[in-house]
Amino acid sequence: MYTQGLNSIDKIAAPDGEQAERFQARIDADDRIEPNDWMPEQYRRTLVRQISQHAHSEIVGMLPEGNWITRAPSLRRKAALLAKVQDEGGHGLYLYAAAETLGVSREELIDQLLSGRAKYSSIFNYPTLTWADIGAIGWLVDGAAIMNQIPLCRCSYGPYARAMIRVCKEESFHQRQGYEIMLTLSRGTPEQKEMAQDALNRWWWPCLMMFGPPDGESQHSDTSMRWKIKRFSNDGLRQKFVDATVPQAHFLGLTIPDPTLHFDEAGGHWVYGEIDWDEFRRVLAGDGPCNRERLAVRRKAHEDGAWVREAALAYAAKRSAATRQKAA
Ligand SMILES: [Fe+2]
Ligand SMILES: [Fe+2]
Repeated sequence: MYTQGLNSIDKIAAPDGEQAERFQARIDADDRIEPNDWMPEQYRRTLVRQISQHAHSEIVGMLPEGNWITRAPSLRRKAALLAKVQDEGGHGLYLYAAAETLGVSREELIDQLLSGRAKYSSIFNYPTLTWADIGAIGWLVDGAAIMNQIPLCRCSYGPYARAMIRVCKEESFHQRQGYEIMLTLSRGTPEQKEMAQDALNRWWWPCLMMFGPPDGESQHSDTSMRWKIKRFSNDGLRQKFVDATVPQAHFLGLTIPDPTLHFDEAGGHWVYGEIDWDEFRRVLAGDGPCNRERLAVRRKAHEDGAWVREAALAYAAKRSAATRQKAA
């Protein structure tokens, strides 16, 4: 209440420029911005876009792996995969809740996803063809997600930063279960090792695209960095991911599908080849191998779940009517 009171006095007393300066000074001092604090409209909009895209990615990300729950090769694998897919659903819900603190409703965000107006991570538009894909997703996709999300634990917007702390703990379990699947396959029969190599071949390049366009082409980077929504550039994070992942592939005895990949002794980095940005743009524009299927499945799930939402609302209305009656 006290903060809210101060805020409304602020709104009357300070012209916009002064408020914006004070806001930037708080960011520079590594203060967290909370839902009731004054913020520039552009900051709010950037966060709504980023957090909702992130939430959509978690929810759509359940689909390629959900396909494999019934086909997991053992009860142990099934239990781990089921837990992981449920975690992703939970991540989506934390993130929708964080976006709601910025004054947008969950229904509106879900509507943007289902109508195809909102974006989600391009990676989930690729198919999961074999069991090894589940290993590759955990190892590489969740590995890339961790690289992206660890810096977000220090994001300037409090509700987003706090959601990320729990999400990152769960992502690290996801990454390990994926790597362990890859390790088991790589040490198995020649066919199993071949399956692991094939999954790496298909997921490697789309995973590098997960970090977004090269720094020179990234539209939102500068402002996002100044507002500490983003702390590292796309290319910087991509390089960190490559440097962490190449030795892991070598440990598995697998080959990264990039003939130009080499270690630069002077710079201390693995230098990778040209990324096919045309493919990235195509998938992002809705023309990837599974875009249509993913949205169709998501829409059907939403429609099939309508009775659950209606029942929950009816139950809530009945309970609040009963409470009112008791109080009267
Ligand atoms: Fe997640
Ligand atoms: Fe995950």
